[in-house]
Amino acid sequence: MCGIVGITGKKQVTSEILNSLKRLEYRGYDSAGIATLNNDQINEVKCEGRVDVLEKNLLKLDINGNVGIGHVRWATHGAPSDINAHPHSSKEVSVVHNGIIENSMLLKKDLLKKGYNFKSQTDTEVIVHLMSEYLKRYKIKNAVMKMLNSLQGSYALGMIFKDHPNIIIGARRGSPLAVGYGPGENYLGSDSYALKSMTNKISYLNDGEFCIINNDQVEFFDEQGAKINKKILTLSSDEKKYDKGDYKHFMAKEIDEQPNVIKNCVNEYVDKINNEINIFNFPWNEKDIKNIILIGCGTAYHSCLVAKYWFEELTDLEVSVDIASEFRYRKNRLKKETLYIFLSQSGETADTYAALDLCKKNGMKTCAIVNVIESSIARDSDFVLPIYCGPEIGVASTKAFLAQLLVLYILTLKLSFLKKNIDEQTYKQKIKDLKNLHSQVEKTLLLENKINSIANIFSDAKGCMFLGRGSSFPIALEGALKLKELSYVHAEGYPAGEMKHGPLALIEDGMPVVVLAPKDSYYKKTISNMQEVIARGAKVLLVTNKSEDDVFSENIWETIEVELSNSDLIPILLTIPLQKLAYYSALKKGFDIDKPRNLAKSVTVE
Ligand code: AGP
Repeated sequence: MCGIVGITGKKQVTSEILNSLKRLEYRGYDSAGIATLNNDQINEVKCEGRVDVLEKNLLKLDINGNVGIGHVRWATHGAPSDINAHPHSSKEVSVVHNGIIENSMLLKKDLLKKGYNFKSQTDTEVIVHLMSEYLKRYKIKNAVMKMLNSLQGSYALGMIFKDHPNIIIGARRGSPLAVGYGPGENYLGSDSYALKSMTNKISYLNDGEFCIINNDQVEFFDEQGAKINKKILTLSSDEKKYDKGDYKHFMAKEIDEQPNVIKNCVNEYVDKINNEINIFNFPWNEKDIKNIILIGCGTAYHSCLVAKYWFEELTDLEVSVDIASEFRYRKNRLKKETLYIFLSQSGETADTYAALDLCKKNGMKTCAIVNVIESSIARDSDFVLPIYCGPEIGVASTKAFLAQLLVLYILTLKLSFLKKNIDEQTYKQKIKDLKNLHSQVEKTLLLENKINSIANIFSDAKGCMFLGRGSSFPIALEGALKLKELSYVHAEGYPAGEMKHGPLALIEDGMPVVVLAPKDSYYKKTISNMQEVIARGAKVLLVTNKSEDDVFSENIWETIEVELSNSDLIPILLTIPLQKLAYYSALKKGFDIDKPRNLAKSVTVE
């Protein structure tokens, strides 16, 4: 996703902005640029490609200045190119922008009539010329407000001005933006991570707000231009979590961190002394919750699908699941007795945030299960359940997925017990099983050598399928997504029982098919579905769990056995080999594992 950095201070800012852009690389992008103000002149250097290409260009075109803005762009309007890279500048103003201006074509038409020339195909460039136009007639604050009021769509903006040295103006609607405070300088960033190397003193803008940042003061304003005060948060500045250590990729490190993530997360929610789940300050009485809707995108959506099986198994609640980009436009029948739960690692996904906003505006009960507790989705929800998995840098979500599953399971258990759907003995036993889970994940990680040895079948495949039933079906979806987003191989997750209704036609000789068949109530049925694909030539990788029963079947290409556990927790264990499979398949293809093509870590646009 696009990233923004701005610095205004007393010293030269270019190298510091460049460093911060490097920290934003994890978000996924395709071009980068910096603009500074020096001797009343705006200087801009930008290019397609990685930040190190920008760095080389800066060596040739060294731009100085004590105020500047930088940007890494993930293309929405206009292909990745030098000219479409941000910042976009005129003589009077330079702009960096995250988001989508939905009425940009209309605005552009009007500006062309006024004689403005456009160089790029971006929506952002209309902001530059609108600012130039309004600055002719209004003082800067009113000019900014006029410009903002003419925009439809989403934005996080950073702007510097030729005739207003030392200031940066930031504005936010639907795309996150933060202000950082430093010694004799202040900052603007698309998230706190962008500013972590400079400060951990942060304030966040809310939708509709804008700010005027000077090196010695920051002023915040609401949509009507009235001054507002902002809390200054002090964030944990634990830098060591942000490096790869001895790993080649963040993703590899984050997969192997999962036993600790599980241990920490369980410790956060389960009281060691009395073996009880503590969900402090839960703002509702469980009797007031008649049903639950789980909402998320991508991997977060898959965690919602798994949780549906848990809620159905362990509670009397009605539970449904929706993809956020569908939910936000659906003709919803929002209900007061429904708890709306939003799953998001970043807490900034635009569609999930919009779905939350819809529920908030209608006075619904909202709960966020997030990793970034200072994120927009967390800040705007009634109640937050953190997943405590530490920063997840790899674009492909791994430890956050497991932590989301864990917190969803913990919430299910707690509600199940409070609603007397399970007795105390069952409740306590399940909590004990949770406490053992990290060691079972640890043992399951040891399968990696075997997985590495078979991964090239998947990396060379024309296409492959992942099959499962029950709570293994969402894991099949997740395994397919991991393989798609890392090795760019077409992979489909499918309910095993659905194959004969069409997709069986895809099976051809040698096609790799992963069959998730833990020894649960679906086992025999899934094994029969497995036979159907083997009979048509599929190379089946069977992923099951250790147990005394043998697998009554032949012609299975390979079998992986995860540790035996409480059957509720099997989806968590099944995920591990699929993460490793995707990782090693991509490694064999030499792809950029932490920053796959076209993808972003946090999708802050629709
Ligand atoms: C997961 O591997 C993907 N990177 C993507 O599907 C991600 O889960 C999705 O964009 C949701 O992100 P969020 O959890 O930050 O909301």
